Amino acid sequence: MALLEVRDLHTSFFTDAGEVRAVNGVSFNLDHGKVLGIVGESGSGKSVTAYSIMQILASTGKIVSGSIKFDGIELVGAGEKVMKDIRGNRISIIFQDPMTSLNPTYSIGKQLMEAILLHTGRNKQEAYDRAVEMLKLVNVNEPEKRMKQYPYEFSGGMRQRVMIAMALACEPDILIADEPTTALDVTIQAGILELMKDIQKKIGMAIIMITHDLGVVAQLCDEVIVMYAGGICEQGTENEIFYNPCHEYTKGLMRSIPTTDNNGEKLQPITGTPIDLLNLPKGCPFAPRCDNAMKICLTKTCERIQINEDHQAACWMNVKNSIEKEGGADE
Ligand SMILES: Nc1ncnc2c1ncn2[C@@H]1O[C@H](COP(=O)(O)OP(=O)(O)OP(=O)(O)O)[C@@H](O)[C@H]1O
Ligand SMILES: [Mg+2]
Repeated sequence: MALLEVRDLHTSFFTDAGEVRAVNGVSFNLDHGKVLGIVGESGSGKSVTAYSIMQILASTGKIVSGSIKFDGIELVGAGEKVMKDIRGNRISIIFQDPMTSLNPTYSIGKQLMEAILLHTGRNKQEAYDRAVEMLKLVNVNEPEKRMKQYPYEFSGGMRQRVMIAMALACEPDILIADEPTTALDVTIQAGILELMKDIQKKIGMAIIMITHDLGVVAQLCDEVIVMYAGGICEQGTENEIFYNPCHEYTKGLMRSIPTTDNNGEKLQPITGTPIDLLNLPKGCPFAPRCDNAMKICLTKTCERIQINEDHQAACWMNVKNSIEKEGGADE
């Protein structure tokens, strides 16, 4: 049994303008100790997927259907009591901007200790010791001194280390990191990712790494989900996604990033605008922006096709290619 099993998850926001279908039938598994990357452009439903798992959606948001099983426990419809035990204890989340997640009026130490006291049976002295230990783990120097300081006395990178310490203090089974390094500059980003990798190896927790940076995925992830318009268009091992992308959208993503292979070449951004989640098109949601769209792409969505045992993609192009191959074999 996988540690986390998400099946056909649908999450919507009910707004004055109508139902915004932010997540449309997302399914994936996460095994113990694995790092899963979720990539996709802005608005593709990455955060809403994470917030659905944690059940921290905005008040207008609702899981409409589907199942989220964590360690055998069904979370959809489980209620706040169950979620309170899981949130922060067994599944932790770190957000993009550590400044909004830290309280500016409390010392770092107080905030760390509070998180530990809230989620574990430790007493105050034990919580203090644990907080210092966690700051050491995330490479904050002079942790005892740092405990007394306030968030404004920490740099952006340091604050994000504190957030990681806080998320890890209760040794969660799963850490969800929602763009944890986007607000940081590149060199600090690399340090934080290195740190997360180290800790992941030491503690052995599973990570869901949400990012629109494919470099982060290459550095950290075992498996990758590519999201588009609230759905998963492609999923596979890191190797398969990078070296054998089988969805036209993923191929576009790969062309739009700097790599050692295309160094110096002009990057090709994907043209066109993301689709309107209030009015999803009939066929493949990427078809209106796809250079290779066929007739069927505009009328019928493509189910996920098994490319090989490590790889699935929901793109008609794979069907076309395999028909052409078969045709070629007959000649
Ligand atoms: N509170 C809300 N009310 C209405 N729509 C929302 C709300 N929160 C999110 N959405 C919509 O849900 C869709 C998915 O949003 P989500 O935040 O998951 O995107 P994302 O992939 O995380 O993007 P980003 O890379 O910008 O963080 C977007 O179209 C967004 O506008
Ligand atoms: Mg997001």
